[in-house]
Amino acid sequence: MELVRQGAEAKLFKAKFEGKTALLKKRVPKRYRNRQLDDRLRSTRTTGEANLLRKARSLGIKTPTVYAVDKKKKEIAMQFIEGPRLKDVLEKKNLSLCKRVGEAIALMHENGLIHGDLTTSNVMVKGKDLFFIDFGLGKQSKKLEDKAVDLLVFKKTFEATHVELMPLGWEKIVSGYLQAGGAQEIVKQMQKVEQRVRYH
Ligand SMILES: Nc1ncnc2c1ncn2[C@@H]1O[C@H](COP(=O)(O)OP(=O)(O)OP(=O)(O)O)[C@@H](O)[C@H]1O
Ligand SMILES: [Mg+2]
Repeated sequence: MELVRQGAEAKLFKAKFEGKTALLKKRVPKRYRNRQLDDRLRSTRTTGEANLLRKARSLGIKTPTVYAVDKKKKEIAMQFIEGPRLKDVLEKKNLSLCKRVGEAIALMHENGLIHGDLTTSNVMVKGKDLFFIDFGLGKQSKKLEDKAVDLLVFKKTFEATHVELMPLGWEKIVSGYLQAGGAQEIVKQMQKVEQRVRYH
C-alpha cells in the first residue's frame, strides 16, 4: 500500500479493493486523547463519514463510491479519484467552478446535510466533475444556524487560501448557492455570525 497523504486525522493509502484501485482512509489514534474517547470518536467519524458520502451521492452530488467500512479498524475503502484537489487548480480562468461548488452545497443543505469541513482541499476535480470528500465532521441537520456555520467555515478558509480570487470567487460560490435554491436567509445568518465572531 502506498501512503498518499497524512491528513490531520487520517492516513490515506492507495490500495486495491476487489481488483479496483481504492483509497483507504484510516483514522489513526491521537495519543493526547483519552483512549476510550479516541476510540469512540474515530469509530463514529468513520461510520458517519461513510453514511454521509452515501447520502450525498444519493442526492446526485459526486462523491467517491464507498466500497467497505470497517468500524473496528476505523477504515473506509472508497473509489480512488484520479485528479487534483480544487485548491490546487482553482484560478481566474476556471472561476466558474465556484458556482458549481455553491450549487452542490445548496443541494446538500436543502436535504439537511451539513458537510462540516468545506474547503477547496475537500473537493477533487476529475475531468468535468467535482467530487466532494472528507465528510467526517459532517452531520444531518435542518437548522438554519448549522447551515450558516457550514458556509462561514468555507468562507473563512476560502478567503485565506485564495486571496487572489477574492472577492469574486466567494461571490460566485454564493450566487451558485442562491440560484440552486439555497435560502437567502442562510446567507444573511452567515453574515450575522461572521459579525458576531469578529466583534465579540
Ligand atoms: N477518494 C479519494 N481519491 C483520491 N484521493 C483522495 C481521496 N480521498 C482523499 N484523497 C486525498 O487525501 C487528502 C486527505 O483526505 P481527507 O480530506 O479525506 O482526509 P483528512 O484527514 O481530513 O485530511 P486533511 O487534514 O488534509 O483534510 C485529500 O485532500 C486528497 O488529496
Ligand atoms: Mg480534508
